[in-house]
Amino acid sequence: MIIEFHADLIKRYDKSGPRYTSYPTAVSFTPEFTQVDYQRHVTKSNKLAGPLSLYYHIPFCDTVCFYCACNKIATKDYSKTPTYLEHLYKEMDMQAALIDTSRQVEQLHWGGGTPTFLKRHEIEALMAYTRKTFNLLDDDSGDYSIEIDPRSVSKDTIKLLREVGFNRFSLGVQDVDEKVQKAVNRIQPIKETQAIIDACRENNAHSVSIDLIYGLPLQTVKGFAKTLQAAIQMNPDRLSVFNYAHLPHIFKPQRRINEDELPNADAQLDILQQTIETLTQAGYEYIGMDHFAKPEDELAIAQAESSLHRNFQGYTTHAECDLVAMGVSSISSVHNSYSQNEKNIDDYYAAIQAGRLPVVRGLSLTQDDILRKAIIQQLSCHFQLDFEQIEKLFGVVFMDYFADEIEALKPLQDDGLLNLQKYSITVTPRGRLLIRNVCMLFDVHLRQQTGQQSFSKVI
Ligand SMILES: C[S@@+](CC[C@H](N)C(=O)[O-])C[C@H]1O[C@@H](n2cnc3c(N)ncnc32)[C@H](O)[C@@H]1O
Ligand code: SF4
Repeated sequence: MIIEFHADLIKRYDKSGPRYTSYPTAVSFTPEFTQVDYQRHVTKSNKLAGPLSLYYHIPFCDTVCFYCACNKIATKDYSKTPTYLEHLYKEMDMQAALIDTSRQVEQLHWGGGTPTFLKRHEIEALMAYTRKTFNLLDDDSGDYSIEIDPRSVSKDTIKLLREVGFNRFSLGVQDVDEKVQKAVNRIQPIKETQAIIDACRENNAHSVSIDLIYGLPLQTVKGFAKTLQAAIQMNPDRLSVFNYAHLPHIFKPQRRINEDELPNADAQLDILQQTIETLTQAGYEYIGMDHFAKPEDELAIAQAESSLHRNFQGYTTHAECDLVAMGVSSISSVHNSYSQNEKNIDDYYAAIQAGRLPVVRGLSLTQDDILRKAIIQQLSCHFQLDFEQIEKLFGVVFMDYFADEIEALKPLQDDGLLNLQKYSITVTPRGRLLIRNVCMLFDVHLRQQTGQQSFSKVI
């Protein structure tokens, strides 16, 4: 996907907004949505009998990175994990009593926190319990991925992960500059990361992905150039380059970041521009919102074939899966519903001990939500929208239904971000970095939301 970088435009449109890993976003979930609603949606999804995607949230990390916006528990107490797994198994049993477990698990993901906080025997046991409970693929054809903090694993851990069935590995790197690493409390020598990537390759990983962040304290254009070169040297199949979301009123450890050391807006834009130029010159394709992939990677191929989708794990090729997420704070997406588990670990344990699914809030999508979700998916994955296709699928007259949105799109057209035609919207190369702004115009929930900001900047 070709993109053009225009600093002035980006500055003008830079405001806070969702990343649209779901629509409506989690901000719209309500406590009125209960376990009973979830069960109703599961029944409908069982009738359709599509494939499943399973997600397990493992919240523990043995140190805290000051920038972190994930739902994690920093602890050095490894005796916490048996209790957590015990509850996770019970949750799996409860889910398995509802879901038709003959449905094939096409996608499996362990996220965190740091899933590799678990000990070897715990990793084996959790995977064995999953195989016993659900219908996992045994021939390495599933998309089975895990988030890895390279500081928490050895080459042997990678071998073990591969043996139990993982074939995709996503590694947190963020920045290789020692000064930056010190400022965010994450010391991670390049050699250590490289050794883990080598281990992934030696064990025939299907895909290796690296996470970087720009906008961290003490980052400079020159410093980040080294990070980009190191990342390219590591030769990952995919790269996620996130803009640092600084929301210290929500994420307490971020208060330990010295705000005077954060690069200013201009410096951040320079780093972004350099990132795009360097990665595209190195042969990576821009997929969309923060993501790059090699042209031969499944994501780039799916985008070229118009079959790419977006969900809580970012871009994905598994559109048709119902997502069943387990563990503290995790979010499921089953048949036109979203449901989120308790965010607090004690509340999560209490619900499970009481024999309840720990669902604490969620949403049943209305027909309008489903329609807008399809539009936001199309735009964020393919940067274009075919009105006739939407009209056929949803029985609406696009220009009438979205008269206000069309009006709101016109200034963006005047700025050259998109081409608005009689039956389509095409986001131009200069509009692609600002795709969140385009999607936001179709988000009715966002218009109704007020109060303290909980989204990061769009760039
Ligand atoms: C759960 S972590 C990855 C696995 C592992 N815990 C690690 O750190 O290596 C998910 C990713 O979210 C990104 N991330 C965390 N906090 C962020 C923030 N405040 N802004 C932007 N990205 C962030 C980081 O790139 C991180 O690698
Ligand atoms: S970035 Fe990863 S290792 Fe660091 S605190 Fe967050 S989840 Fe834990």
